[in-house]
Amino acid sequence: MNGCADPCREGFLSRLRDEFLVTRADARTIVGNFHQEMRRGLAGQPSSLRMLPTFARRPRGTERGRLLVLDLGGTNVRVGEAVLDGNGRAELTAVDRSVLPREIMSVSGAELFDFLAGCVDSFLRERGLDDRRRRDLAFTFSFPLEQSSLVSGRLVNWTKGFTVPGVVGKDVAALLRASLARRGRERIRVAALVNDTAGTLAAGSYADRACDLGVILGTGTNACYFEQAERIETCRAGGAAEEMIVNMEWGNFNRLRTNPWDELLDRTTSNAGRQRLEKMISGMYLGELVRLVIAKMMAAGLLPRGTNHAVFATPYALTAERLAAAVRSADPAVALGIDGAFPWDGEAVGRICSLVAARGARLAGAAIAAVISWRDGELETGHVVAIDGSLFEKFPGFRDNMREMLRELFGPRAAGITFRLVPDGSGIGAAVAAAVGPRTGWGAGPC
Ligand code: BGC
Repeated sequence: MNGCADPCREGFLSRLRDEFLVTRADARTIVGNFHQEMRRGLAGQPSSLRMLPTFARRPRGTERGRLLVLDLGGTNVRVGEAVLDGNGRAELTAVDRSVLPREIMSVSGAELFDFLAGCVDSFLRERGLDDRRRRDLAFTFSFPLEQSSLVSGRLVNWTKGFTVPGVVGKDVAALLRASLARRGRERIRVAALVNDTAGTLAAGSYADRACDLGVILGTGTNACYFEQAERIETCRAGGAAEEMIVNMEWGNFNRLRTNPWDELLDRTTSNAGRQRLEKMISGMYLGELVRLVIAKMMAAGLLPRGTNHAVFATPYALTAERLAAAVRSADPAVALGIDGAFPWDGEAVGRICSLVAARGARLAGAAIAAVISWRDGELETGHVVAIDGSLFEKFPGFRDNMREMLRELFGPRAAGITFRLVPDGSGIGAAVAAAVGPRTGWGAGPC
């Protein structure tokens, strides 16, 4: 390392700390901007928050049922059977989980839905449920949907690196039905089509009435909440004093301060200019941000190149799991595959990983604060936030940083906000939404 490396490196790291900082003042601005964008989105005006009506209602907790569940996430697909006991308890039994093959992100639409129908078909066959009976299926689809009812919705756009052609603008429930029919499974009825956040909220509020916000912090990020139906101007749901789940698509929120690394990352994505908040928070992008920083430092001689060049030369090769391992490790450089580093190199690498992840967590905390304060400005009641996703579940320190953000914004009143991990909530909640059923009188189009 040359003579300037240490001071240069300290300078670089301290600039990096400023670039990834989210101060309390920044967070307050984000909360204010969120409220403006929420208002616009609900009124059907241009907004980076889509505020999509889902036609899913608040469960009572007494719904019963046994339904098939198909849950397409960003990284996994799950098929299972959900059982709701009518007493606030619901579970996913007999689950088949598989990691989505990478190629599936860009095959044709028919191939994607045939693959999903194939997963349902094998699930039924393997359990001897091959009796061709009429069955209800709850379908969780973790992408933005413009819904016209609880059982139909068009894909608005792909996110999380998916580029499957021929699906945007189409009703994904109809595409699934067609693929199921090709397998001789035409007796399976799509009883609910829900976004994964809506599923998480439905599952959380089935178990606990105080739950009013559903959040995903995984490969992608998003949230939904219960809104007074009459405030949603983009669908015919007014009149009745009832609540509907609104899918915010907060990953697309864009009124925030980005840094040069965010710009660099965004430019190379298949959805440049969109999902800006998601690209600062979620598991798909945290590793990539760190990779960009470390690759730059290596090129500038501020870190040794090590022997594992492929990880730093290949986009998205550095995963969030790897980052989590580095944060946990006594030698973060080795955990990332930088062999031959000195202890102080390892320390620098650890600082970078923590910095990038902490910003993501603080932004997630600020976004949660925005939605809670939209519902309850003075925090007069307690709030339970149902959360699912590997970042929240497994990334060291992530939830502590989220909490800290809430404390900075709300002071002692933050204690009234509870985070509740709802594992498999996205799938279970789709079954809950199906069991609650549609409400007559609610429909697509402005009131
Ligand atoms: C999608 C959302 C989804 C979130 C979490 C985002 O990329 O746009 O619809 O809820 O990921 O899976």
